[in-house]
Amino acid sequence: MLMREVLRGSDVPAIEEIVRTTGMFSAEEVAIAVELLVDGVTRGEASDYRFVVAEGSSGVVGYACYGSVPCTVGSWDLYWIAVKPGAQGGGIGRRLVSVVEARVAAAKGRLIFVDTSGRADYAPTRAFYEACGYAVACRVADFYAPGDDKVVYVKAPTVT
Ligand SMILES: CC(C)(COP(=O)(O)OP(=O)(O)OC[C@H]1O[C@@H](n2cnc3c(N)ncnc32)[C@H](O)[C@@H]1OP(=O)(O)O)[C@@H](O)C(=O)NCCC(=O)NCCS
Repeated sequence: MLMREVLRGSDVPAIEEIVRTTGMFSAEEVAIAVELLVDGVTRGEASDYRFVVAEGSSGVVGYACYGSVPCTVGSWDLYWIAVKPGAQGGGIGRRLVSVVEARVAAAKGRLIFVDTSGRADYAPTRAFYEACGYAVACRVADFYAPGDDKVVYVKAPTVT
């Protein structure tokens, strides 16, 4: 499995399909994921978004999108992470997170934040972040919608 950090134009439809077929994101969220990918492809290193693309023999199977938070000293956001449904549970997500953490640590980042939903159907996603060593920093009730809290996770990057 290759962890590629240069985004290509052909990654955009491949990752759009992965994000959509996870079934975890609304059409609006999928459109935002695509917007960030297009920004990354067209602006390259000038983009505020960085990417890690997991590529196997059958093509792209997952990705992570992250970036430094403007006007902070060393805070970073993990904006998106998704693994192709048939490839989930095989350690690809953990590997994507570890590449992100290595890059953030190398850039002298102090903290990585991840926002996710408190909904019951996001329990596996929260279990994943917790397995990767992320701790709940705060929970904002009814942030996304009534009954749909925002859960913010945080971790100091570790290099494995
Ligand atoms: C969340 C996601 C990125 C994790 O990637 P993955 O490749 O499936 O995860 P990994 O196989 O690397 O799992 C790492 C650890 O997380 C935990 N974990 C992963 N999936 C889990 C699940 N469904 N239930 C409970 N724990 C889980 C396990 O402890 C696992 O460690 P182990 O294999 O040593 O037991 C992936 O499942 C996904 O794309 N989900 C849908 C999209 C999503 O929710 N993205 C995040 C939006 S905020």
